Amino acid sequence: MVNEDSYLVPPKLLEAFRRDGVVVLPGVFTEEEILEAKTGLATTLKIHEVDVQDLEKTAGNLRKLSTTGGSGGVLDIFYAPWKLRLSENPRFFSAISQLWAATYAEGRASSKGGVCMDVRRGTMEGQGEEREEERGIDATDDEQPLYAHPHGPFDPRRGYFYLDRCGFRVPDRISAQHAKGKRPLQRSLTPHLDCCPAALYTSDKAVPRWRPVQSFVALTDNLGPQTGGFECVKGWHRTFQSWADHRPTCRQTGKAAPCVGDFTPIRPVEDAEVIARFAPVYYQAGSVIAFDWRIPHANATHHVGPEPRQVSYASFLPDVPVNREYARRQAQRFYNGLQPDDQWKENSDSREVYGDGSVFEFSDLGRRLLGFGAEEVSLRAENEIGALERGDAGREDNLCRFSGRRQPGDPCSAGQKRECGKQGCT
Ligand SMILES: [Fe+2]
Repeated sequence: MVNEDSYLVPPKLLEAFRRDGVVVLPGVFTEEEILEAKTGLATTLKIHEVDVQDLEKTAGNLRKLSTTGGSGGVLDIFYAPWKLRLSENPRFFSAISQLWAATYAEGRASSKGGVCMDVRRGTMEGQGEEREEERGIDATDDEQPLYAHPHGPFDPRRGYFYLDRCGFRVPDRISAQHAKGKRPLQRSLTPHLDCCPAALYTSDKAVPRWRPVQSFVALTDNLGPQTGGFECVKGWHRTFQSWADHRPTCRQTGKAAPCVGDFTPIRPVEDAEVIARFAPVYYQAGSVIAFDWRIPHANATHHVGPEPRQVSYASFLPDVPVNREYARRQAQRFYNGLQPDDQWKENSDSREVYGDGSVFEFSDLGRRLLGFGAEEVSLRAENEIGALERGDAGREDNLCRFSGRRQPGDPCSAGQKRECGKQGCT
């Protein structure tokens, strides 16, 4: 099943993904790769004065890496080399590419995206073609094609990184030892969606993106309940649209169910039917867990296991216009030492210690997943971020080094008024 450069997703797992909206892909990463990643994570934590061998004393320093207030054990580590190495792994991208090919790549238009479609008869305007094949596992409650969307067909072999955080959730006993008042160091990631059901394709973000398949890499096993692991509602993508269309308003205020950006909490009372269907998903280290963006998910309320639960959150974005723009901004931020700003944060006081992007040598695939030819990133970043976000001249060195052709000291092109690697040049 596994070779160096590709991972063949077995047909039964493709079918499981279409049926359940979630799938565990075992053995995408080798034991050596996982060990390397865990060693890298331990080294990163050491920089932040967290000793994984002595969490009783040092776990409190995890607080400085969390902008979620400890929720889910999610840490703001985006650009660590070990993490980027996982994300550019060809087997990982190959696996997700096959999930796209089996679902969204065909690109049927969605009535929810503003494209004309007769939902009741299940036909596209002007075509008049029956869609009987949409019954069975691809049927939805409201007779919409299951993978309809407004972004058009795309080539599933092309895509971009979605650079994301990581998870290091300590056992509850450690969390309690480092509590502040009644608040433990960490807590679960409560049930939510990373999309707004009432406005799937009309994000109010300045730089929106479309991530139809979410994923993470398991660095540790999760084989039992209440060990901080992943939980979700299997099959909810088939129920999603009819649920979204009739979702109860807030009982106390009468207002519509809230979305914070594209983070949508699943409410204990009003969304009780969803909560009741949550179940754990078990997996071994080295697996990739992938799920449809319409699947409500969480992690376990408790972690009674002996070891920290460790994951690298990492996804890919299909090559559609909205994601090209997102990838461009993402690459700019990366090479300017700025963390991604797409994720939900309770507070925003963390700093990226791996801000000097030039230290990481991407593979050819990694460069493509970052989204641009090297020179294009360099020029666009220089031209468009400019003084707005680039706080010091030193960061221009990163852009120059990344260009590949130009070295510090070489004259810069495209109207740049500074020489790479020098301050104050004209
Ligand atoms: Fe999420």
